Amino acid sequence: MSEPLKVGLIGTGSISRQHLPGYQLRPDEVQLSAVCDLREDAARAFAAEAGVNEVYTDARAMLEQSDVDAVDICTIHDTHAELAIAAAQAGKHVLLEKPMAISLDECRAILEATDQAGVTFMVAQHLRHVPSYMALRQCVRAGELGRIWAARCDTFLTAALDDGRQPIAPRSGWWGFDGKRGGGGVVTMLSVHHLDLMRYFVGEVARVDARAWRGHPSFTNEAEDRAVATLEFSNGAIGHLTASFSSRAPWSFQIMLMGEHGAAWTPPPDNPSPLMAHRAPAVIASVERDGPDGFQGAQSFQPLETDTFNLPSADPYINEIQHFARCCADGGEPISSGRDNIETMKIVFGVYESARSGTPVELSQL
Ligand SMILES: NC(=O)c1ccc[n+]([C@@H]2O[C@H](COP(=O)([O-])OP(=O)(O)OC[C@H]3O[C@@H](n4cnc5c(N)ncnc54)[C@H](O)[C@@H]3O)[C@@H](O)[C@H]2O)c1
Repeated sequence: MSEPLKVGLIGTGSISRQHLPGYQLRPDEVQLSAVCDLREDAARAFAAEAGVNEVYTDARAMLEQSDVDAVDICTIHDTHAELAIAAAQAGKHVLLEKPMAISLDECRAILEATDQAGVTFMVAQHLRHVPSYMALRQCVRAGELGRIWAARCDTFLTAALDDGRQPIAPRSGWWGFDGKRGGGGVVTMLSVHHLDLMRYFVGEVARVDARAWRGHPSFTNEAEDRAVATLEFSNGAIGHLTASFSSRAPWSFQIMLMGEHGAAWTPPPDNPSPLMAHRAPAVIASVERDGPDGFQGAQSFQPLETDTFNLPSADPYINEIQHFARCCADGGEPISSGRDNIETMKIVFGVYESARSGTPVELSQL
């Protein structure tokens, strides 16, 4: 039997807790064997919880001294490129939290470094591992919805209000409100998930026309608290994104696909936490699924079959880590490889460029 993939986790903040079960499910295939955080107390607390003995406060020391095969980078956006490149140069496979980096130049530099090192590189777009989204993609690809002509997504999370309250910010002065550290605001932090899903379901985007709102008192360094964008897909479909970190609106991460023979939707779950709202299961209605009485409005929407994928879990974070480990083991291309994900990042930076210039942006020009 082959050795398990040994992973060093860099950054033991909020998302690392979601990653941990992915390393505990099948330790004979993938396991955490080192932990690193600039904050020693946080690194030690996480290591104790994870049952890991090797603890570092300097990622470069971990890369030099530990015999990990791979790293899982869960740090602030402006550190992604430096850490991913250092890991690749040390010959480690790289799992990197979204967004890939804070500029397209940085994204390209990571791609070049991981290509040169010949390591596996995957961006952690966990929504691609939600079982019902995998099933929906299969239906779309099989043509069940017919030609997709429109796609819509909302990303609303009330993080900062105009009265100064910051309902979900983990602390005041949170880096997620800082355009320098985050590389932007709501679009890089949240909408990147949904822009990636739009590509996953519909295909590549050719052109973006966007507006963004900046200057909210909780946000610094040009971070936008709101944005809207129209996306023109290469296949002719039109997409729409509405994103807000600051509106008095219900949390919403809803996606809708409209096809010539059907539609799919992720209805808002009752009383969701942000993490659960994020991955509301998709439902579908189509000509193929109509009963003898034909389309029956909302009653026609059905959950998608998901037990055909032989997935390790219903939890997308577990599935993404297991997928990464499999790709490292067999040399397969991850479903959100760097090469794939840079196309998502072009949409993100296309949104910013269009909002800045006030004109549509051709993504092939970026
Ligand atoms: N996929 C999702 O659902 C999801 C949800 C939340 C966050 N994220 C992403 O995860 C990443 C981390 O976000 P978070 O909310 O966990 O942030 P966080 O602020 O809670 O944690 C970041 C941690 O990284 C540490 N750190 C920063 N620079 C470091 C360095 N150079 N070396 C070692 N440690 C360092 C910090 O001390 C901190 O403990 C971001 O890319 C974010 O967008 C993804």
